[in-house]
This record gives sequence, structure tokens and C-alpha cells, in this order.
Amino acid sequence: MNKKQTAGQKAAEWIKDGMKVGLGTGSTVYYTILELGERLKNERLQIDAIPTSKETEKLAQSLGIPLTTFADVTRLDVVIDGADAVTPTYDLIKGGGGALLREKLVAKSADTFIVVVDDSKQVNDFKGLPIPIEIVPFAFQTTMQRISTFSSELALRMKKPNAVGAVNAVNEPFVTDNGNYVVDAKFAHMDSIGSPAKLHEKLKSLTGVVETGLFTGMADIVVVGCDEGAKVFRK
Ligand code: A5P
Repeated sequence: MNKKQTAGQKAAEWIKDGMKVGLGTGSTVYYTILELGERLKNERLQIDAIPTSKETEKLAQSLGIPLTTFADVTRLDVVIDGADAVTPTYDLIKGGGGALLREKLVAKSADTFIVVVDDSKQVNDFKGLPIPIEIVPFAFQTTMQRISTFSSELALRMKKPNAVGAVNAVNEPFVTDNGNYVVDAKFAHMDSIGSPAKLHEKLKSLTGVVETGLFTGMADIVVVGCDEGAKVFRK
């Protein structure tokens, strides 16, 4: 079993009968969703789930996981999602797959937010790591200019060459499920900014920025897949 699978499968244990569940996006929570599909078959579990992306929605549907929406649900018992980086104080970078906005909306509605990662995602701080930032396409050049006044390096995320619908991928910006663009920005001067939470506030105040991939003070439990098995950290 690989480390992502170890973490992803372990986290499925938190899902109990009758729960409303948020399902994250990515290659680690993928294993949580597969495990949930198995449990639905074997244990006659009754749950309702809200997916954080079209990709997860498709996967859940293929496994027969019942889906709901925020028209019918206000709180979620458990939300399980991956991350690109996790600090010892459980601050996260998310959005490597571009689903950060829906992921944050879903995680904000969680009674318990569980993060699943392999041990390569554990970091001491975010220095030098790219932070995904979702921005509106209109006048994106000016939004990027505003971000560049305190970012050390930034790039508009482009579609991967093999992406669905990518005709001339190199010249086509990646578009989120919400129809927005993503900028990946590094901040070499994190110390002078203060903290990830302050950086998030600073970025959110810029016109054109929709959301950032900085998830601070949100995770309740982190499940880390290691060679020795799954390690569980609780706040
Ligand atoms: C999706 O936009 C991301 O936030 C993912 O949750 C994050 O990138 C982790 O993905 P993996 O589990 O595939 O590494």
C-alpha cells in the first residue's frame, strides 16, 4: 500500500452512519472516497456527501455515493481532504489541483476537518513554496501586478498538455470549476509579512483575488501516511 493510500483509507474510519460528509479533491483523498464506496456496499452505511470538484463528483457518482448540495445541508459532520503542505501547527497550502475555492467553502462548513497527506507534505513553514491564488479572469494582468508588489515570483497556471479540452495547452490558462484562473505565487519575505494568516488577509484584500490556498486554523485532525502506517495528529 502506498503512503497516500495508507492515509486516505485510515481517514474513512471517521465516517459514520447518518453523517453529512465533505469529499475533497486529489490523489490522497481519492483513496478515502474509494474506501467509502466499499463501506457503502459492505455496511449499508447511509450518508450524504458534498464533493469539492467536478472530478470528485464524477468519482463519487461512479461509486454510488449519494450526493447532496448546500441547498439541503448547512453543516457537514466531517470533511476529508488532501493538502500540498502541512506545518506542525496544521496550517495548510491547498490548491495544487485547482479546487481551492470549493475546498475552502466545504471545509468551512465542517464540524471536523480531516486532512490526509503522505509524509512528504510535512514542512516546517511555507518559505519558498508556491501558494495557489484563485483570481477572476477579467483584468487578470492587473490582479497579478498587485500580487507581484510583494510576491517574489509568480506565474499564471497553464493547462497541462494532456488536459481535457487543451488545444494549445502552453498558451491556455488553467480554468477552475468556478471559471476562474489560478496564480502560483512564492513569497520569499514571509518573515516580514508575519504569518500565513496575515499573508492570506493581505492577498484577499486585493481586487481580483477570489480566494487563496492558505488554510490556516482550519484542520482538526491530520492523518499522515508513513512507511510505518498512518499517524494521526489531533489539535
Ligand atoms: C486540490 O486543489 C488540492 O487542494 C489537493 O487537495 C491537494 O493538492 C493535495 O492533492 P494530492 O493529495 O493529490 O497531493
